[in-house]
Amino acid sequence: MSKDKVQIFDTTLRDGEQVPGCKLNTSQKLVIAERLDMLGVDIIEAGFPVSSPGDFEAVAAIGRIVKNATVCGLTRAVENDIKVAAEALKTAVRPRIHTGIGTSDSHIKFKFNSTREKVLERAYNAVKYAKSFVEDVEFYAEDAGRTDNEFLAKVCEVAISAGATVLNIPDTTGYCLPSEYGAKIKYLKEHVKGIDKAILSCHCHNDLGLATANSIEGVINGARQIECTINGVGERAGNTALEEVVMILKQHPYLNLDTSIVTQELYGISQLVQEQMGVYSQPNKAIVGSNAFAHSSGIHQDGVIKNRETYEIIDPKDVGVTESAIVLTARSGRAALAYRAKNIGYELTKLQLDDIYQNFLVFADKKKEVNDSDIHQIIETSNVYQ
Ligand code: KIV
Ligand code: ZN
Repeated sequence: MSKDKVQIFDTTLRDGEQVPGCKLNTSQKLVIAERLDMLGVDIIEAGFPVSSPGDFEAVAAIGRIVKNATVCGLTRAVENDIKVAAEALKTAVRPRIHTGIGTSDSHIKFKFNSTREKVLERAYNAVKYAKSFVEDVEFYAEDAGRTDNEFLAKVCEVAISAGATVLNIPDTTGYCLPSEYGAKIKYLKEHVKGIDKAILSCHCHNDLGLATANSIEGVINGARQIECTINGVGERAGNTALEEVVMILKQHPYLNLDTSIVTQELYGISQLVQEQMGVYSQPNKAIVGSNAFAHSSGIHQDGVIKNRETYEIIDPKDVGVTESAIVLTARSGRAALAYRAKNIGYELTKLQLDDIYQNFLVFADKKKEVNDSDIHQIIETSNVYQ
């Protein structure tokens, strides 16, 4: 059975970059955009052109160099935003305007001091106007996570009737439970008139640590685009991490969902984004963290040395990591010590290993991690290895 394609919409350069500490200059954005194109993302959200002259310039420059992906610019449902975005996107081979408006009661009341009727009208006008510049228009219903489903369906219908071909359903505040977000997508698939003319997109924030789970529930329930960022960078607790959703779909083939991502590029681009932003991921970050393929407890190390699959569900090479690491700590066992010793040229007999292991434990209790030169020293100063 052939798999359904899930489009990967990368917003590292827009939702990711707008965060304090993550600011990039145009040349840094170009380096990242080029790598995103190599990675195989379908859409690069390059920025919010009306927000500053620098962002306008960056979007135009990215449009000039990106060869494969669609290049997208964000706007509010405001004519001038849309006109400026269309101008910035003139350089792109495949331009997309991403326009929208808040749809939850809280946004309508507190942000716009408006009514549902007026929001529907602004949504329609924004999409229609964007459509006069480009064919590819995506509509976002900001705070869709907290918008009631009936009204959300109405907003989607209006956006489709104005020409939107992608409907972004953001859980802007990261509030939804996976079951709730999945049910929302299912409801829209079943109730929005004309939904066959558009695809639904998941855009989830991570305030409760659920962004990845929500996006996956979204595609299981019929969405066919995920909006995400490298390393999950983004507003507050971040956005859905690209590397996570891509590897979840790859490692669960029975879902029959596929992406065009060249997964071997994931580690490299993760490192690049960290370096360029100067914002570093935690060691236990899924897929790309420095500990993601490191084994340190004796039981796990023994298993992995016998067969990698005992404790690894992903082949590190599949994400661009050369090999798993067997890290030596005071929790490591003899198998790991023998393995690491062998890597630096020591073939230890069982008797030698038993003895050296005792010295190793004394040493390891005083240190976080035992490195190659420590192993060398422990072995060379032992009585049993002469
Ligand atoms: O989180 C959000 O709602 C957004 C929209 C502007 C798409 O980033
Ligand atoms: Zn967002």
